[in-house]
Amino acid sequence: MFKAKITGVASYTPDDILNNEELAQMVDTSDEWITTRVGIKERRILKQEGAGSSELGARALQSLIDKTGIDPTEIELIICATSNPDYRFPSTASIIAEKVGIKTTYAYDIQAACAGFIVALRAGAMYIQAGVHKKVVVIAAEKMSSMVNYKDRNTCPLFGDAAACVLLEPTEENIGVMDAVFHTDGIGLPHLVMTAGGSVRPASHATIDKNEHYVYQDGRFVFKHAVADMIESSDEIMKRNNLTIDDIDYLIPHQANLRIIEAIAERFNVPEEKLIVNIQHYGNTSAASIPLCLDEFEHKFKKGDKLILTAFGAGFTWGALYLVWGYDAQ
Ligand code: UT7
Repeated sequence: MFKAKITGVASYTPDDILNNEELAQMVDTSDEWITTRVGIKERRILKQEGAGSSELGARALQSLIDKTGIDPTEIELIICATSNPDYRFPSTASIIAEKVGIKTTYAYDIQAACAGFIVALRAGAMYIQAGVHKKVVVIAAEKMSSMVNYKDRNTCPLFGDAAACVLLEPTEENIGVMDAVFHTDGIGLPHLVMTAGGSVRPASHATIDKNEHYVYQDGRFVFKHAVADMIESSDEIMKRNNLTIDDIDYLIPHQANLRIIEAIAERFNVPEEKLIVNIQHYGNTSAASIPLCLDEFEHKFKKGDKLILTAFGAGFTWGALYLVWGYDAQ
């Protein structure tokens, strides 16, 4: 049976930067509070009029095509993880394909909130392992600013816009996506949700007046679950694959809060050089946070490096994925 290995990674973040000092002019907050409580200094915002997550995703995909030199007509499937689709339908993945000019693929979205990338990566890998497809692109594209209320200090410092993607191809070597564990617990619904705009509460004057089209988060409740559940699933995947932290070259946790990342690192005694962190520059980019890290730190990874990716998000939905890196960076 084939394994699915990552053969390329790329990302796109908008040029516009919103830093903590600017946020402190908008709501009652401070650089000190945001830095100490969350670890974020700045985040990117897509300001282009009329552009949604597909714009971010299309730019990331174009960059992947340029970087890998792949013939776009060979991409058999595009899976896009997003909580910020351009529209309720059609899929953002189909819009990305059109923007990049690819007519020879099929494309669909996955909604698994902040865990979306690792869930989609596993799904993409399964097609390759089963011999169904030879080239699959997994994208995470999140225009988080589209769901943020910039008058709510509880949430507006946290999020940023980004997209990142990987190319998956078959290999006969024992590398690539090795294993994954995922869990869902519907207890999360009231704690991390956009209450209106779906089929339960379609948009109305009332939902707009009540600010229900923005992200709502019960931060403390989510924090506790995020730490416990990412630790548990990372532990589960390592045990199941007879790995200890000494065997792991890099741990890439979802970038939601530096304190969460540090709590996970502390639990496993992960030395600083093995812990991948870039939250200070981008904030929480939801599903895009892990592939954004893969792209930024690609130059460090060597073929055969063992990576644990772990994420937690709304639902709650969370898990961990064990990946053996597929190539030496140029
Ligand atoms: O990606 C999906 C999963 N999401 C996560 O994993 C996020 C999990 N949660 C968190 O990261 C943290 O809970 C937050 C960053 C959201 C909040 O940090 P916290 O340490 O849990 O703060 P808190 O909500 O308990 O609030 C502490 C205090 C409150 O004041 P009082 O009630 O103690 O007087 C808040 O009103 O901090 C206040 N506060 C702020 N102060 C200044 C909340 N937001 C701000 C702010 N600036 N932006």
